[in-house]
Amino acid sequence: SIESRVDALVAQMTPTEKAAQLTQYFYFRLPAGAEPPAGFEADAQPLMVESALRAGGASSLLFVTDPAEINRLQRMAVQGNRLGIPVLFGFDVIHGLRTILPVPIAMAASWDPETVERGQAVAAREARAVGIHWTFAPMVDIARDPRWGRMVEGAGEDPFLGAAVAAAQVRGFQGTELGAPERVIAGPKHFAGYGAALGGRDYDEVNLSDSELWNVYLPPFAAAVAAGAGNVMTAYMPLNGIPAGGNHWLFTEVLRETWGFEGFVVSDANVVRSLVNHRFAVDLPDAAARAVNVGVDLEMAIADPAFAHLPEALDSGAASAQAVDASVRRVLEAKIRLGLLDDPYVDEDRAREVLADPAHRDVARTAAERSAVLLRNEGDLLPLDISTLGSVAVIGPLADSRRDILGPWVFDFDLDETVTVLDGLRARAGDALRVDYAQGVPVVQREFASMFDMFGRNRPQDPEGFDEEAELRRAVDLAAAADVAVVVVGEWQNMIGEAASRSSLDLPGRQLELLQAVVGTGTPVVLLVMNGRPLDLRWAAEHVPSILDIWYPGTRGGEAVANLLFGDVAPGGKLPFTWPRTVGQVPMIYSHSRSHEPEKQAQRYWDEVSTPLFPFGFGLGYGRIEYSALVVDPPTVPTQGTVTVSVDVTNTGERAGDEVVQLYLHQRYGSASRPVRELKGFQRIRLEAGQSRTVQFTVGPDERRYWNAAVRDWVGEPTTFDIWVGGDSDAPLVGELTVTED
Ligand code: IFM
Repeated sequence: SIESRVDALVAQMTPTEKAAQLTQYFYFRLPAGAEPPAGFEADAQPLMVESALRAGGASSLLFVTDPAEINRLQRMAVQGNRLGIPVLFGFDVIHGLRTILPVPIAMAASWDPETVERGQAVAAREARAVGIHWTFAPMVDIARDPRWGRMVEGAGEDPFLGAAVAAAQVRGFQGTELGAPERVIAGPKHFAGYGAALGGRDYDEVNLSDSELWNVYLPPFAAAVAAGAGNVMTAYMPLNGIPAGGNHWLFTEVLRETWGFEGFVVSDANVVRSLVNHRFAVDLPDAAARAVNVGVDLEMAIADPAFAHLPEALDSGAASAQAVDASVRRVLEAKIRLGLLDDPYVDEDRAREVLADPAHRDVARTAAERSAVLLRNEGDLLPLDISTLGSVAVIGPLADSRRDILGPWVFDFDLDETVTVLDGLRARAGDALRVDYAQGVPVVQREFASMFDMFGRNRPQDPEGFDEEAELRRAVDLAAAADVAVVVVGEWQNMIGEAASRSSLDLPGRQLELLQAVVGTGTPVVLLVMNGRPLDLRWAAEHVPSILDIWYPGTRGGEAVANLLFGDVAPGGKLPFTWPRTVGQVPMIYSHSRSHEPEKQAQRYWDEVSTPLFPFGFGLGYGRIEYSALVVDPPTVPTQGTVTVSVDVTNTGERAGDEVVQLYLHQRYGSASRPVRELKGFQRIRLEAGQSRTVQFTVGPDERRYWNAAVRDWVGEPTTFDIWVGGDSDAPLVGELTVTED
């Protein structure tokens, strides 16, 4: 049995071998063709790791994606330790390995768990084929402050949507059983509260009440654990003063004792060492002892791991021998479940075949189509009718950028197969339509570009000799001469992601000026926004007839965009966050409390309304959706009772499409003041033109309960609920449910 194999190994291990089994190293080889940053000794780190492997000093590696390299390093590891224990290869497979899917916030905008699951199953298949066993995903941190760059990696602001997306990702990555073939271990991260960094500044401290933790920030983790996630990663920062890597409450009381998590916990990079930086641990042995004692099993390190000091900490009694053994057992169990102890090597020929599978590209294209959100479509400018158009001007610095359309957190992509918006429109137009292109302006000027540039992989968008004024004029002239202009704006992919917070939500550089000049020509404009967070679109929302949020749509993004713009498919995604008007409004969420003078809720600032530009859950389609006949049956139930809520949804328009039907609850009174609305159900459905469907939801004790700060527990109270069903969080159609004592 697995248990007896683990027992046999642990019984033979010395403290030093145990410490090694709890150590994970980055393996930092620069990508082919990349220029090392100044002062960076390209080979020093990987050579150090190789000598650790040869000496039996490492349990896991991250950042290797080449199967031949994986086999080479694996051989080194197996031969390098007395017990022949193989290495576990982990990697950030966040939204695809070779086939790049839309970024996670986009996948969440599909409001379609099946699309999410299918996408991550493709990512898992590619990863496992090259020899990766485990992904540091999904990122399930709730993000309510778009200044925080990592919003792009999560599912947005809402715990209900976040939980559904988290579970779907775990199912996609892992399948039904840990260690299943063609799947990888999923590692929801970063436990917990990371998204609430002060001021949106990455790694800054987080202070959250118990009520926010249980009701908002923890549910996606609970859902990921319930879906069977085999790993959890710590956060970096202190939560309510306690650094995540030393937080007993999080890793022992909540994760293991309350949720029954049986997998292993990995620290985020250098988190254990940094317990000293936090002025929490006195030195590295103390840091190691504190981390392992609270339930952090594996330390992710770049060099000099704190866990190398575990033997010393065991000797002094600071580290619990029981905790160390439990951690070693968890890591070994994962290796055994993955079949690593039986066959640690990977088939390199098969890896090549799997990476080239065309079916994976179809999944990526469909996901990009399903995640796009139509924010405006005045006069039904979209879809474009190819038969009535002579020419299209494609404008903007992101319209033909192969690297940017893939988004952040990808490493093993193939730019040659990446389809930009320009490529996609050209391919779709064929000879039927003339397609011209001008960049117009760079996203950021040359002098700022290096700030966002990792290893020199972004080509400069204003190469030496680039005449910005002339290029801007050329863009405007092209737009003026075209029948329609498609303008692509947004953030460069390196401006978002880890350590990429912004203090502004403006369109970077001169993109707004470009947009205004193009609109000024009088040519109808379709604006495509490439982003992972809301940007300041106040001007566009008034002056540009059609706005489609395409996010960073991945390898086949350009093809998806062409299909959407020409109406081969209709946009059906919805916003997974509230879209503020300006950065001064953030954080802004739909599920706020009613509070004092609720009738003045929209006027909390004297210099700006306090309503969003677009509400949470918002998104248009090419049809016309109407809601009617909301029925709550029965209208009264005891606290343990479940009701059915049904509604008729009709497409009165002339085009088929999808609608995400959303259900929101509000508790009118009780032992706490509850948010004005909270999402408690959603279904993405397809409606043909003229079709009507009755959609049903169940609302039971689970949908009505909440964590109550007064009693410090979950409660479900006798009260009255308002229930809205509609196409976004402002849905007007409302019913009522009375809950009585049991
Ligand atoms: O998985 C990531 C994490 O999200 C941030 N720090 C580095 C890890 C490994 O790349």
